[in-house]
Amino acid sequence: MSFKIFAPATIGNVASGFDVLGLAVDGLGDYFTCTPQSHYEILVSGRDADLVPLDPLHNTVSIAAEAFYRFLGVGSRGFKVHIERALPLAGGLGSSAASSVAGALAAAEITGSRHRSDLVLRAALHAEGVVAGPHLDNIAPCFYGGLTLVQDTEALSVYQIPIQMELWITLVTPPIKIKTKDARRVLPEHLKTEQWTKQMAHCTTLALALARGDHEQLAFGLRDTFAEPARGPLIPGFLAAQKASIDAGAYGFSISGSGPTCFALTPRAEVAHAVSRRLLEIFGSAAQVHVVQPRRQGAEIFL
Ligand code: HSE
Repeated sequence: MSFKIFAPATIGNVASGFDVLGLAVDGLGDYFTCTPQSHYEILVSGRDADLVPLDPLHNTVSIAAEAFYRFLGVGSRGFKVHIERALPLAGGLGSSAASSVAGALAAAEITGSRHRSDLVLRAALHAEGVVAGPHLDNIAPCFYGGLTLVQDTEALSVYQIPIQMELWITLVTPPIKIKTKDARRVLPEHLKTEQWTKQMAHCTTLALALARGDHEQLAFGLRDTFAEPARGPLIPGFLAAQKASIDAGAYGFSISGSGPTCFALTPRAEVAHAVSRRLLEIFGSAAQVHVVQPRRQGAEIFL
């Protein structure tokens, strides 16, 4: 019996919450149609389909599924999966997390163990670790939905933060690729105490502002003084886009995950659309722009 999984796009870090905050977005994500069979068979269509490995040893869907079976203590069970992609590969919208969550969920469905969300998260983290490095800030919102705070990656401890305000998000994906593993290498290994305390103030303010619906404090919370100075230069036009977005009424503009997708948080749909027009002028028509809202729900299985 076939079943279908939808895994949403996610914004890792949400500017100041490096590896800690993540946000699921609505209306954008990948679909995975799974049919149990004896071996793995991977078919891919849609965005960047030609770049996705079809070898089960290298595809995050099967890597996550295998990890799930191992953690559950059962033998491997293959399946055919047709992946319909909307998310760019190495694009900064959590595509590897979406595949990892979908693979682990497929294995959970096949073994009748959907209640083992601990194993779904652990297996997805394992697959994400293989391709991008072990971080949960895309997996957690992809699985649970909404805004999530990763308290402890190893312990898989995740906390959901309610968003008490209307938010519209403009996403822009410039036509370049940045692998998360490479983008992690450019980060500073050490921070001065002064920089660290600044970033903590930004991140705490962001979480508090979203949870309280405090518009006034959002701009401060969306400042990223850790990853952005190191990664911004990898995205041509980043600073101009940040200025244009804020001039057009966004609370802030930063890199989604490890980029190159960037996001602007805005209060209203018309501001988000105005920002998207400015971003297309800066990044050119080869860039992709989406106006979306936060998604409350996580990945879904349709039987
Ligand atoms: N927190 C991760 C990073 C997210 O910034 O490297 C990658 O999508």
